[in-house]
Amino acid sequence: MKIQENISLKPFNTFGMNVFAKYFASFNSTDQLNEILESAKSESSSDLILGGGSNILFTKDIDGLVLKNEIEGIDIIEDNEEYVYVKVGAGMNWHQFVLYCIHHGYAGIENLALIPGCVGASPIQNIGAYGVEIKDVFHALEAFHLRDKMKMVFSKNDCAFGYRESVFKNKFKNQFAITSVTFRLNKKAQYHVSYGAINQELESMGIKELSIISVAQAVMNIRNSKLPNPSLIGNAGSFFKNPEITNEEFNYLKLSHPSLTGYQTIDNKMKIAAGWLIEQCGWKGFRDGDAGCYDKQALVLVNYGNATGQQVFQLSESIITSVQQQFGITLQREVNVI
Ligand code: FAD
Ligand code: EPU
Repeated sequence: MKIQENISLKPFNTFGMNVFAKYFASFNSTDQLNEILESAKSESSSDLILGGGSNILFTKDIDGLVLKNEIEGIDIIEDNEEYVYVKVGAGMNWHQFVLYCIHHGYAGIENLALIPGCVGASPIQNIGAYGVEIKDVFHALEAFHLRDKMKMVFSKNDCAFGYRESVFKNKFKNQFAITSVTFRLNKKAQYHVSYGAINQELESMGIKELSIISVAQAVMNIRNSKLPNPSLIGNAGSFFKNPEITNEEFNYLKLSHPSLTGYQTIDNKMKIAAGWLIEQCGWKGFRDGDAGCYDKQALVLVNYGNATGQQVFQLSESIITSVQQQFGITLQREVNVI
């Protein structure tokens, strides 16, 4: 265990922002995390738990301790005819875990293939894609309270999952380090292929009979065709959430914008594509210096090389203002701005 000083976080965030952490350490167990916190106690004013840095926009140096979660490990804790319960170390790479499940025939997260980041961050915003969210397979998680140095278990109910939301983004923001997540995966797959272009992609792949791997492959193909690879172009996926509006608001907007599409949420609202709103405002493909709005997906803000977090943040402010002026809708950021 070693606490380093004045470390660049550029390799540790997918936007590639070159900010510095006053203190930096990685941990591979809860005990090691506790030791680091004890020894850093008097020196650090704020602690940040970091996974893969794929949902963060750093806008300034961190005047505190950045703790990189590297807890690995996969354990089967229960296995019955219907389900397998798999406990996964929070530092494990999410996509590697998806591949592990595909390899073992465990179904439920194949639609979430290729999402960057670590398992420990997956409950924070209840990651989702192509009609599936991790709440659908979530069983429980273990977390460590950073101030009280206490281990706690959270059930699905405790996490208060919503669309890109959980208790860890709200009431308990920055209070816990999630150390493991247990998923309940299906032995018999129930495929979700009606969302977006999955069916179309499966058809063009020539798939006649669905399998976990073919669904995952279709999802990966679609993702690769529209999302920028962070190792080539800095980004953090969707920068904003898709807004939810009332049915009345939707019908009113549809009168002036017939191409507007949306889908009904379970609480009787309409979720509309923020990417569409941003594109309508003329931002798609916009570039100012190295900060830009991706030309294949307007919901993704990008760093073409040397943009600062402040520049990307300013761009997001301008986008929010113009969507507000043109549509009367206020976009909410999905990315954690720090
Ligand atoms: P980080 O960015 O490191 O952290 C995110 C937040 O969680 C921070 O506030 C951090 O402090 C906190 N945190 C991280 N780990 C822990 C922990 N163990 N304990 C407590 N707090 C923690 N997301 C989707 O939902 N769906 C998508 O389809 C999707 N596509 C993406 C595509 C691209 C190209 C990119 C770059 C991102 C995409 N994302 C998507 C966003 C991102 O991949 C997810 O939010 C992911 O879960 C973030 O994981 P991470 O380990 O990188 O988290
Ligand atoms: N659209 C446009 N112009 C654009 C982009 C999108 O008009 O530039 C419209 C199109 O009509 C398209 C629709 O938006 O059909 C939806 O686009 P897409 O399928 O790319 O999905 P999204 O709504 O933009 C959401 C998630 C993604 C997730 C995909 C697939 C949010 C904020 N984003 O994007 O998650 O991968 O659906 O399920 O919900 C992330 O959270 O980082 C992320 C990438």
